[in-house]
Amino acid sequence: MSFPTTNERQDDPVPQKRGWRGLIDAYRPYLPVTDSTPIVTLYEGNTPLIPVPSIAAEIGKKVEVFVKYDGLNPTGSFKDRGMTMAITKAKEEGAKAVICASTGNTSAAAAAYAKRGGLRAFVVIPDGYVALGKLAQALVYGAEVLAIRGNFDKALDIVREMGEHYPVTVVNSINPYRLEGQKTAAFEVVEDLGNAPDWLCIPVGNAGNITAYWMGFCQYHQLGKCDRLPKMMGFQAAGSAPIIAGHPIEHPETVATAIRIGNPANWQKALAVGEASQGEFNPVTDEEILHAYRLLGREGVFCEPASAASVAGLLKVKDRVPTGATIVCVLTGNGLKDPDSAIEHSETQLRQGIEPDLEAVAQVMGF
Ligand code: F0G
Repeated sequence: MSFPTTNERQDDPVPQKRGWRGLIDAYRPYLPVTDSTPIVTLYEGNTPLIPVPSIAAEIGKKVEVFVKYDGLNPTGSFKDRGMTMAITKAKEEGAKAVICASTGNTSAAAAAYAKRGGLRAFVVIPDGYVALGKLAQALVYGAEVLAIRGNFDKALDIVREMGEHYPVTVVNSINPYRLEGQKTAAFEVVEDLGNAPDWLCIPVGNAGNITAYWMGFCQYHQLGKCDRLPKMMGFQAAGSAPIIAGHPIEHPETVATAIRIGNPANWQKALAVGEASQGEFNPVTDEEILHAYRLLGREGVFCEPASAASVAGLLKVKDRVPTGATIVCVLTGNGLKDPDSAIEHSETQLRQGIEPDLEAVAQVMGF
């Protein structure tokens, strides 16, 4: 027996996802590639936009809320969108090695795409502050992992200098190809909604993603694929909120280790996005982040704490949401990335030590 191909069964509506070959293939006309560019892909992108009615209900007026679940990318975060482009271009330009500083997700994506493309991958991470799943990924994908006794900002300083003095290509979001790839998430949102949302809520760390989304919305707007632009609502963890403070934070702290960043590389770009979109930057506390994290869990959506900052932020500023608005919250990373946080901050009890018999189990179940 053979499965029908898309051509054989014209009568069946064929889900668009069939035949998906990654975002460079899908958005080739809008990306800096040519026919001879050697594409490095893991078929990333095309992630779902999921309605979250219980979160919409918390707003207290008629609104529609969706999450863009980018944790369903091949390495479990939105970084894959940027990395397919950055590694593809590094390979095209003849690079033999790439390097990044990372709170974990960039390192996982850089490792996966670099090794797939046949390049060496060096990742510099803050020792002790990278979630377990991310560390595991970088190692399994075969990166050379260097844990420094310093935070992400220090790691990025070193990486920038490495890029200037040694034959390694930097694949942090200071690499413009990263943003080119990441802007495709905005394309997908517009395609799914049929227009841009009224608000886009997004966690902000190094501020690359908010910049990339805005690029994508503006490009689609210019092409006439949407007739409006969203208000860009960026959220930083309160203990790591330099953009809101207006100065770098020397010792950033937050449970959301992915956005534990005190001096964002794309700071000025993010400010420009805030202004152009009439958006806002607001802080969310760890407590608010974890509350949103648990609410999402009860919707069947497991994201990492940093991602929940987008929903926490929406709930924080809910009084300012216009009635009838369509809101998209970006969920940047998969919850499985950070199992320690999940277990530590879940309110659900693990019932242990139960005798292995029917009666004992039934009794614990309350029957
Ligand atoms: N959410 C997650 C899960 C992240 O990993 C990051 C950034 C962000 C949000 C913020 O995105 O930096 O574009 O504003 N992680 C980087 C890393 C810093 O090294 O993985 P941003």
